[in-house]
Amino acid sequence: MTSVPPPSVAQPPGDADRIDQPLGAVRAEVRATPAYPFTPIHAPFKLDQNESALDFPLTLRKLALERMMERDWNRYPDLHAETLQARIGEYENWSPAGVVVTPGSNVLIKLLTEMGGIGQRLLTVQPTFSVYELEAQMLGANVTRVPLRPDFGLDVEGLKRELAEGGPGVLSLIQPHAPTGFLDTESDLRAVVDAAGDDWIVVIDEAYHQYSGSNCRALVLERPNRVSLRTFSKAWGLAGLRLGYALAGTDLAANLQKLVSAFNVNALTQAVAEVALEHPGYVRARAEAVVWERERVLRELSGLKRLHAYPSRANFFLLLTPDAEYAHRFLLERGLLVRRQDKLPMLGGCLRVSIGTKEQNDLLIGAVLELDAE
Ligand SMILES: Cc1ncc(COP(=O)(O)O)c(C=O)c1O
Repeated sequence: MTSVPPPSVAQPPGDADRIDQPLGAVRAEVRATPAYPFTPIHAPFKLDQNESALDFPLTLRKLALERMMERDWNRYPDLHAETLQARIGEYENWSPAGVVVTPGSNVLIKLLTEMGGIGQRLLTVQPTFSVYELEAQMLGANVTRVPLRPDFGLDVEGLKRELAEGGPGVLSLIQPHAPTGFLDTESDLRAVVDAAGDDWIVVIDEAYHQYSGSNCRALVLERPNRVSLRTFSKAWGLAGLRLGYALAGTDLAANLQKLVSAFNVNALTQAVAEVALEHPGYVRARAEAVVWERERVLRELSGLKRLHAYPSRANFFLLLTPDAEYAHRFLLERGLLVRRQDKLPMLGGCLRVSIGTKEQNDLLIGAVLELDAE
């Protein structure tokens, strides 16, 4: 389903002028941080946000609506979405006391930075998902970025050197990485995670793990300072719901939970997610189909002359072009919206392309081959 742009609302003249003055009370760190870099563009084929191309299954939508109708909308929901915590615990085979639920894993990124980053360190890689750095900047964490290797893998020695400089702080890693789609070897990941002493909170963001066949649960279970982040926004096809969760030891989870505002996940979201967790079979089937399509697309684009499609273990891949602005426009003119990544370190010329439906992928392949032949 494509969304319709919201109508523009006319402001009475003069209002903006009266309030458009710098406000000294805003902390310098917030002022200095750029806004989240996203400009909504409407296009027929939306391959720019790594969402599921398929909506939540219709039968489950109907069940979810019935469940919503059963709930009391006039009452506050569970304080910390306890029922949902328990269902996620069952699904993940994880103690519910180690599950923290928030409206999207973006919120968890902020809260983890509040928990271990304010006035302390954030150690991350570059390029990476921009939210980690934006939150750290706004919250006044001391950010260190270790560049990825040329193949986009973790620079194990570089990260170990930074960890040895000492915490406390937050180490953030994504498996598979965003926006590159690279999945580290178990030994590289373990070497970095093990090098983080107990004064680091080790965050492993697994937003795309269903597409990579990886699962860091065993690694996280080994020590109390490790946490895995997961989301309903990708393989579950529920980005519109805004729901993510953390899996951690009970002490870390209890402290993280303190930072979550009361009644943070609304009753309607809880109802839909409960239905999803009662019928999770579609997630795996769809993830397998996406992986199959991803490999097909990458195979079809393997012989490019001027462009290059990078391998990926996620539901997106990077496309290196001679001119990202031109390539973005070229694809948009054919109805295909992808995301520019060319301003990120190491990613000059790169676009990030989500895997869509078979028909969308066919269109994409055709357009990329045409662009390559120009
Ligand atoms: C690596 C990574 N983590 C977290 C998120 C945010 O997920 P959510 O929709 O749960 O806030 C994204 C979204 O694109 C992502 O790419």
